[in-house]
Amino acid sequence: MSQRPALPDGLGYDGQGRLCLSRLVVSNIAAQLATPFYLYDLDIVRVRVKRLRQALAPLKPRICYAVKANGSLSLLRLLAQENLGADIVSGGELARALAAGFAPANIIFAGVGKTDAEILASLKAGIGQFNVESEAELERIAHCAQALGVTAPVALRINPDVDAGTHSKITTGRATDKFGLAPEAALALVRQRQRWPQIGIEALAFHLGSQLLDARPYATASIRLRELVLAVRAEGLPLRAVDLGGGFGVAQAQAAPFDFAAYVQAVSSQLKPLELEITVEPGRYLVAEAGLLVTRVIQTKETAARRFVIIDAGMNDLLRPALYSAEHPVFPLVLDAQEDWQPADLVGPICESSDRFNRALALPRLAQGDVLALGMAGAYGAVMRSSYNDRALAAEVVAEGDRWAIATPALSPEALLAREQLAPWLAH
Ligand code: LLP
Repeated sequence: MSQRPALPDGLGYDGQGRLCLSRLVVSNIAAQLATPFYLYDLDIVRVRVKRLRQALAPLKPRICYAVKANGSLSLLRLLAQENLGADIVSGGELARALAAGFAPANIIFAGVGKTDAEILASLKAGIGQFNVESEAELERIAHCAQALGVTAPVALRINPDVDAGTHSKITTGRATDKFGLAPEAALALVRQRQRWPQIGIEALAFHLGSQLLDARPYATASIRLRELVLAVRAEGLPLRAVDLGGGFGVAQAQAAPFDFAAYVQAVSSQLKPLELEITVEPGRYLVAEAGLLVTRVIQTKETAARRFVIIDAGMNDLLRPALYSAEHPVFPLVLDAQEDWQPADLVGPICESSDRFNRALALPRLAQGDVLALGMAGAYGAVMRSSYNDRALAAEVVAEGDRWAIATPALSPEALLAREQLAPWLAH
């Protein structure tokens, strides 16, 4: 028999072979909604928060959730209520984080290209930290702070020149990547800090990349961070904190999970003696497993070469397979335990060959109208969707306990069309 995907935390089949998220039968929700739609189980998010807190307990970290992974307002509200902070990368995420109720002091603004408008809005909101990636950016933040008569709390993000060993499109800590300051450049800014009286350099930061399953890159980066902390202190600047970024990966099927024990050990040995507050910025780890993309089979197609299952979700709904060759596990909403699964290509309706979720994946016999769920879709799923091919933006649904609600209604092609206006000279 062909192998079936392992079930992520919180997902299971009941006695009747129905896929359940915690206490909810997914097919009951699917019967009431148009597909495709995203479904997030907030119970799973709570479990992940608890698990991360336990795993990192020896570091007593401040956890600032990376909003970019999933910015659904209900989910953010839950995380704010759990006393997490937020890691944001745009003015849009700032507004979203504030609307969700995150304490401004626990908001970190990261990213390599902050506009003056975004910096001003963040200063007005009183956020707790700007992660700065260049001298030019420091200058602009100082300028904005001066205009408002405030001081800007800053962490210098260093580029430790470490290969995170993840997909090249989501690795960020190599010297050739656009991110961060070389350690010696960061030290030079510290030495010249009198030039920017509106800036308080309080922390040093790094972020190595995303979906790391190996703790060793963090160990190497922590050694480099420690060296820099000592050099900065030698310049008479005590520092308050270090920010180790995000990146904790979620393991698929048989892969070994992220080794938190090794991470904690490496980070503790290098950084604990410095007695600095430690911040982490996880996104994916907290939300990936909590999300499903629920989709319906439009039809199947057999060619001499392959069996295709064509679903009503496409790369516009979930871009990760096309962009990073990411694999998302597939779960039928109703499971026949006896059935032998056969290989098929799971593809969307978009007019590109990259619109393929999986190649030669073991799948049950499927027919038009059958409903499937793509797993691990809670992180970098809905946030990266588009209306390519003039398709609707899928709805997002949140569930907790035995309750569920539409968090974001779908945006139809009609609604998208209605936003447009003809150029006046073409209007008649
Ligand atoms: N902090 C910073 C500065 C970041 O750039 C990121 C992610 C995070 C934290 C959170 O990383 P996480 O814990 O989620 O790995 N779209 C890609 C992932 C891009 C990640 C970008 N930065 C994907 O779908 O895999």
